Amino acid sequence: MKILITGASGLLGLNLSLMEIGTHTIVGLDRSKLARTPFELIRADLTEPGLFSRLIETVKPDAVIHTAANANVDSCESDPQGARYLNGELPGILAGCSARAGIRFVHISTDAVFDGTKPGIYTEADIPNPLSTYAQTKLFGEQMVLAADARAIVARVNFFGWSLSGTRSLSEFFYNKLAAGEQCNGFTDVYFCPLFVGDLAATLVRMLDKGLSGLYHVVGSEALSKYDFGQRIARQFGFDPALVIPKSVDESGLKARRSHNLRLSIHKLSTDLGQSIPGVSTGIEQFYTQLQQGYPQKMRSYQQV
Ligand SMILES: NC(=O)c1ccc[n+]([C@@H]2O[C@H](COP(=O)([O-])OP(=O)(O)OC[C@H]3O[C@@H](n4cnc5c(N)ncnc54)[C@H](OP(=O)(O)O)[C@@H]3O)[C@@H](O)[C@H]2O)c1
Repeated sequence: MKILITGASGLLGLNLSLMEIGTHTIVGLDRSKLARTPFELIRADLTEPGLFSRLIETVKPDAVIHTAANANVDSCESDPQGARYLNGELPGILAGCSARAGIRFVHISTDAVFDGTKPGIYTEADIPNPLSTYAQTKLFGEQMVLAADARAIVARVNFFGWSLSGTRSLSEFFYNKLAAGEQCNGFTDVYFCPLFVGDLAATLVRMLDKGLSGLYHVVGSEALSKYDFGQRIARQFGFDPALVIPKSVDESGLKARRSHNLRLSIHKLSTDLGQSIPGVSTGIEQFYTQLQQGYPQKMRSYQQV
């Protein structure tokens, strides 16, 4: 299968593009950040009118995994119109083009579509109520994609891992602070189900291989607080866990509102895939092992200079 990855320089896009995926071929779409990649690279801005339909005619992918977005929650608050187009309207346009060409489309959404007020675990049947501009535009994107292509996969995700900049993920935030011996805040009142980006990438490809379609929660099998996540990173790397300071997200001064409970059920995913989904412990071990193996440096060697 030939898979076109949008947002190939991003946290998810680059990890997906670098993944060993057997007989599948990757083509990565990037605006300007990458060079000398081991996968085929196409330089393009997705907002250029007509670009995507020309691109899929030339590349002829079997599937598209659309990771490109404005995924910066606070920057979406400053540019709601731009975020609505990039995170909402554009995915619908790309999904429509793909459907007309008979190409499978995977759209990446977010756990943050929920307001976090449910006492238990969110399933795909629960009604979203996004709190921030980012989450509102991502929910709009889900709706646009499924209206344009009923066979599309919409994956609500939360993930961590190494990125091109070395600063994109929550795991890198804790690693960078703790490695420098600095204190950092860990929210004790935000629960989530992070999945290691390598596990997420492999799961998305398996979903395509299995011919799944529709809405899925694609997160880790274990819920924990962001504070506990920071503690686990500290312990895995041998840093001082006391540097992670317990804090409430409500005292953080962050611009956009955040949900307190983002525990998502993966029952539908694991049932339809016929396999279990990894938890955070093995993911943090892989995050550690990748550092020992020089994976972050390897990523940076693909950075355009
Ligand atoms: N990170 C998380 O924890 C998280 C959690 C839940 C959901 N998600 C979702 O997961 C997906 C991937 O997130 P991420 O963290 O990997 O994002 P990211 O690191 O910020 O990467 C976003 C990518 O989109 C590209 N992009 C933005 N505008 C573009 C345009 N006009 N044309 C072409 N490419 C464009 C960026 O390219 P440039 O590098 O050129 O800007 C970048 O490669 C997003 O849909 C996000 O909403 C992320």
